[in-house]
Amino acid sequence: MEWGMKNRLSRIINPKSGRLVMLAVDHGYFQGPTTGLRDLGKTVNPLLPYADSLMITRGGLRNWISPAMDKPVVLRVSGGQSILKELSNEIITTSIRDAIRINASAVTCSVYIGGEYERQSIENLSRIVNEGNDYGIPVLAVTAVGKDLVRDAKYLGLACRICVELGAHMVKTYYCEPDFDKIVKACGNVPVVIAGGKKIEERAALQMAKDAVTNGAVGVDMGRNIFQSDNPIGMIKAVRAIVHEGSSVNEAFKIYKKK
Ligand code: R5P
Repeated sequence: MEWGMKNRLSRIINPKSGRLVMLAVDHGYFQGPTTGLRDLGKTVNPLLPYADSLMITRGGLRNWISPAMDKPVVLRVSGGQSILKELSNEIITTSIRDAIRINASAVTCSVYIGGEYERQSIENLSRIVNEGNDYGIPVLAVTAVGKDLVRDAKYLGLACRICVELGAHMVKTYYCEPDFDKIVKACGNVPVVIAGGKKIEERAALQMAKDAVTNGAVGVDMGRNIFQSDNPIGMIKAVRAIVHEGSSVNEAFKIYKKK
């Protein structure tokens, strides 16, 4: 792997622990003013000290985040649809030139395996992998499920492996039981992280993070289960304790509870 690519990846995945906590706040690109992100800066800026990296759109960055912020950016470069329409109908919205201008440490787009516009989303991933390889910028492929697809190991394993075969440098998927470990193994050396998904009870979200890292994920790329929590700072600290310190769910839950 080329020096620049390795350098950027090591900003996202801690080279010593091999783990990461990415804070996902890119939801507005198809959900608009998502609960918790209406004033994105007010929610996200206090959480930044506890995040290893930030997954966000260029509009999110330029409007709400200071350029003096020192966390690596994983830039969402796909979009073009909304929650009112077919979710898989994405295009690449953000050029690699703008990603470089922003100083992105990685770029990301969604892949909708089984979706109506499956091929288009695969083309999107392939294009940003080609461009990312040209400039040494790693690509995080997001296995998006749309509204109707079943989140089991057979489906998620198919989606993740396709992303790996197409050259993604990291893959984000959902945790599932049983056989999450098989999904990770079939991704070879490509690191797998989990999304949090819709807001669930805090202990259940921490259990999911624990189960994911126990079964081979290198960390989490979590949004709503952090920023929609009644204690977002406690929650991100609790997730960090699980991912980086191997804390138990009970220990982490106590961290979440502290105000
Ligand atoms: C969704 O398409 C976005 O990429 C989100 O960043 C991703 O789903 C992770 O956020 P959450 O933990 O809220 O699911």
